[in-house]
Amino acid sequence: MARVLVTRRLPDGGLEPLAGHELLQREDGVEAGELADVDAIICLLTDRIDAGVLEAAPKLRVVGNVAVGYDNVDVAAATARGVVVCNTPGVLDETTADLAFALILAASRLLSEAERDLRGGRWQGWGIGQYLGQDVHGATLGLVGYGRIGQAVARRAAGFGMQVLHHCTHDTGEPGFVPTLDALLAEADVVSLHVPLTDATRHLVGARELALMKATAVLVNTARGPVVDEEALAVALEEGRIFAAGLDVYEREPEVHPRLLAAPRTVLLPHVGSASVATRTRMAQVAAEGVRAVLAGEHPSNVVNPAAL
Ligand code: GLV
Repeated sequence: MARVLVTRRLPDGGLEPLAGHELLQREDGVEAGELADVDAIICLLTDRIDAGVLEAAPKLRVVGNVAVGYDNVDVAAATARGVVVCNTPGVLDETTADLAFALILAASRLLSEAERDLRGGRWQGWGIGQYLGQDVHGATLGLVGYGRIGQAVARRAAGFGMQVLHHCTHDTGEPGFVPTLDALLAEADVVSLHVPLTDATRHLVGARELALMKATAVLVNTARGPVVDEEALAVALEEGRIFAAGLDVYEREPEVHPRLLAAPRTVLLPHVGSASVATRTRMAQVAAEGVRAVLAGEHPSNVVNPAAL
């Protein structure tokens, strides 16, 4: 029986795979003082698992991150200490793609602004020039990153009669592949980001990239906040250099850049990409199952640093 620290409350049933282990349920993250005897940690993307945390947990064998992105974990430090890191690939693709498409629609059609006006009593009745957005049907979608989630967004776009382009670092050999990000940005009516946060993707979209986009284009980010330079995006929106933005993630969550909050034509959501009852439950189970398997000496498929096994 291993000691497993669970940093926050998870959806009901999420910890079922760990039945039989001792679970130390916490409500509010990791405290270095309680890590000395811990064999495993189940954590969320809001928990920073850095070298200091790893050092405070000398018996730690595995971290189960209840997210597909794992930029909150210092994977290099974990690998160096032989600590296995598991994530939740595959189970949130469709739910996150649904949300990306919701943002594509909401940002293109200025839905947040329109609803804010209605709720604020500022709607004076139908007007022919009101809330004129950009059509989604028939538009060109540019996917930056073409992994499972990007491809799930592409499937939805086909139903809207969109032309779908994609860019990623390797040639996919598939129709719609665009070898450079610059070319994709210049051609797309909607740009949707689906890359993990790494040193290479931090501020992948900054002032220079925004300037390449069409003045009628819409930017959607359901990946990680720091992939976009928020200040540059706010300026581009203020100056009308792009049409609109739909964001689910931010550079310094839960803070949102004040200029972005004030910028026109934005839809801003509080990181809800995978937030459905079924998907969040499944994510917890997949992370817990990875932890169970590693503790049992097995090699689960959701390990992000196999070198640590
Ligand atoms: C959510 O943002 C995730 O990475 O799972």
